[in-house]
Amino acid sequence: MRLILVGPPGAGKGTQAGRLVAKYGIPQLSTGDMLRAAMAAGTPVGLAAKELVDNGKLVPDDVVVGIIRERIDEADAQKGFILDGFPRTVGQADALADMLKNKGLALDTVIELRVDQTKLVDRIMKRAADAASAGQPVRKDDDPEVFKGRLEAYNQDTAVVIPYYEKAGLLAVVDGMQSIDQVSSDVESVLANLDENV
Ligand code: AP5
Repeated sequence: MRLILVGPPGAGKGTQAGRLVAKYGIPQLSTGDMLRAAMAAGTPVGLAAKELVDNGKLVPDDVVVGIIRERIDEADAQKGFILDGFPRTVGQADALADMLKNKGLALDTVIELRVDQTKLVDRIMKRAADAASAGQPVRKDDDPEVFKGRLEAYNQDTAVVIPYYEKAGLLAVVDGMQSIDQVSSDVESVLANLDENV
């Protein structure tokens, strides 16, 4: 199974991807997590990405495409994967299509977590407050001003990926405003329907 979770920052992509990892035994490929790990490790990619990520701006396509190209070649991704936060531009979507085509692979589905964007800042601020009170590092981009920029980047560059996949007949929409459990249940229904149609 190869799928993409798409939606604005705070839509619940990471939360749902984590649950699917446990259920399907395939890895979550989160470009955000990979970039934060590279930043923490001080690798050249991390050093180059840090200012952009901390300020809610997209990292150049060639950087994230390179990361994903290497990652999907790893052993644990051979049975499938859940892409979380990638692709974020039409250029990334085209690069992914080429990558998969060259391997004779295809995507099974793209699930949009649809949310009311005016509610998202509350989720992000809650995440920051929870992390702080648990003594964990707070993401630098979980800041109200930076969050506005992340949302703008989504609306400007990423939202167009949704009609791109709709045209390809791959899009399924799930109401991301429901409880986390209900969203999981709807996501699983989408995937169960795919299984039946295979
Ligand atoms: P990334 O890490 O991908 O951040 P994001 O898309 O902004 O994602 P978030 O982690 O904020 O949100 P999410 O949708 O995963 O929601 P989550 O489940 O965490 O990217 C960070 C940065 O890296 C980007 O800004 C960019 O700079 C760079 N980058 C990454 N990928 C890139 C790419 N492909 N190209 C270029 N640059 C890239 O949930 C959020 C909170 O809400 C949690 O606290 C959760 O518990 C809660 N929550 C989740 N679901 C619900 C629910 N249903 N009800 C109530 N609360 C909920």
